[in-house]
Amino acid sequence: MKKNVRLNTPFTDQKPGTSGLRKSSKQFEEPNYLESFIEAIFQNLTGVGGGTLILGGDGRYGNRRAIDVILRMAAAHGISRVVTTIDGILSTPAASHLIRTRKAIGGIILSASHNPGGPEGDFGVKLNGSNGGPASETLTSAIFEFTQNLSEYSIIESEPISLNQAGNYLIGGMTVEVIDGVDDYLALMQQLFDFDLIRNFLNKDFPIVFDALHAVTGPYAKQLFEGILKMPLGTVKNAVPLEDFGGGHPDPNLTYAHELANLLLEGNNYAFGAACDGDGDRNMILGKACFVNPSDSLAILAANATCAPAYADGLVGVARSMPTSAAVDVVAKKLGILSFETPTGWKFFGNLLDKGLITLCGEESFGTGSDHVREKDGLWAVLFWLQILAVKGLTVSEIMAQHWSRFGRHYYSRHDYEEIPNVIAENLFDRVESSLSQMVGNKFAGREVTLADNFSYLDPVDNSVTQKQGLRILLNDGSRVILRLSGTGTKGATLRVYLESYSSANGELFLDPQQALSGLIKEIDDLAEIQKRTGMTRPTVIT
Ligand code: G1P
Ligand code: ZN
Repeated sequence: MKKNVRLNTPFTDQKPGTSGLRKSSKQFEEPNYLESFIEAIFQNLTGVGGGTLILGGDGRYGNRRAIDVILRMAAAHGISRVVTTIDGILSTPAASHLIRTRKAIGGIILSASHNPGGPEGDFGVKLNGSNGGPASETLTSAIFEFTQNLSEYSIIESEPISLNQAGNYLIGGMTVEVIDGVDDYLALMQQLFDFDLIRNFLNKDFPIVFDALHAVTGPYAKQLFEGILKMPLGTVKNAVPLEDFGGGHPDPNLTYAHELANLLLEGNNYAFGAACDGDGDRNMILGKACFVNPSDSLAILAANATCAPAYADGLVGVARSMPTSAAVDVVAKKLGILSFETPTGWKFFGNLLDKGLITLCGEESFGTGSDHVREKDGLWAVLFWLQILAVKGLTVSEIMAQHWSRFGRHYYSRHDYEEIPNVIAENLFDRVESSLSQMVGNKFAGREVTLADNFSYLDPVDNSVTQKQGLRILLNDGSRVILRLSGTGTKGATLRVYLESYSSANGELFLDPQQALSGLIKEIDDLAEIQKRTGMTRPTVIT
């Protein structure tokens, strides 16, 4: 039976311009909170009446309850079919693929990505559009406006359906199709890469380890590595998705995936290691005693793309987010292909991909992807690396060394200062912003400032302009320092400082990045007074 629930307290706190809602699990447990946001989605998404919707999540605390609520609300709004998965487990890239193959009106992905989960952690609702990518700014702004005046929502009262096995079920007049969320995705991967070649290479003498961090990629990776690619049992660690990710932080970087990092950087048993984040869209790649920074990873995939069957004819173009290093630009120039610089966030790649202007894209934040879906894709990146390693018969560090000597090296690091009180972070940021206009032509870390601004982006496809995407200080030797405030944190503010300097192919290529960047690190702290204003003597996370 359908009922309309009246709301007493208005829903006010979705950030406009973000393609979803990410808050503490506690906040999502407040009465009608989740329901209000879902109502706003169903009132604004095109094609709801009679449409198909994809629904699933990364298995974190709150996943099952949210699926139940969303199914009953979808039925109340006249959706004709929801495709969801066994146990509600669906990675973000797999959801993107399903939206596209099922010609769905969009998808709802339940995840707070790399943020910790559990009753004390975070939960999130991400909305993707019919192209499979994060919802457009126009749609999310409309949803935001709608939530400001929301007074009721509609839901059907019915028992939760079990998600234990595949099959078709009915809620009101709506079909709920429960499928195995893993199969379609792995079938897509088999079209893109040469699995026989990878299998032979790995099983000869190339031991690998994958850390699923108790998050969504566990079931995918088990079937992929230990099943299809016949690697030994135990190749996938922490493979069972847990509601609180086993108490961990499902973010594949050297700080939060330290067990894996130790296996590769200190140990001797593996030639390759990788991890993905909570919802499976990020990736970290490691070789023996070797960490691949994500900006380099994108450049290396671009330079060697023709090793993979899917990209054998070459790339149309590439794109990177503004704070990502320019390593991929150098490759694009050599290949004579298009390259684009977009604001942070995957949604900006969507237009370029849909228009066929780019084939590969990526971000410094461990996100890499291609035109096969409209999200970044962690396991895809891992397979792409394995494909290149198998074709070349080289180790990860040999591939890196070859790349740098051919293209030069972009020393790169990101310093994150987390949980800064909002006012302190905003004052720090505003103060630097107001000093930018006087910087051009002056010295910074012994070099000359050629440009200092707050980055704005003109989308070449729809001509929309997105402003205030991060403070940039560009120097005459190609070095850059960027400052941004995170849009995804849920506690206080996170200040991100991105540091980059270029060394040509003839220069010194094998320094430690922190050493190579030390001049920039010191100068930006002097300018922004980060230590003084935050009281933090070092960043929370250094990548
Ligand atoms: C972070 C990353 C950004 C990424 C986003 C979603 O956003 O920096 O590259 O697109 O997560 O995964 P931020 O917290 O910096 O706003
Ligand atoms: Zn993610």
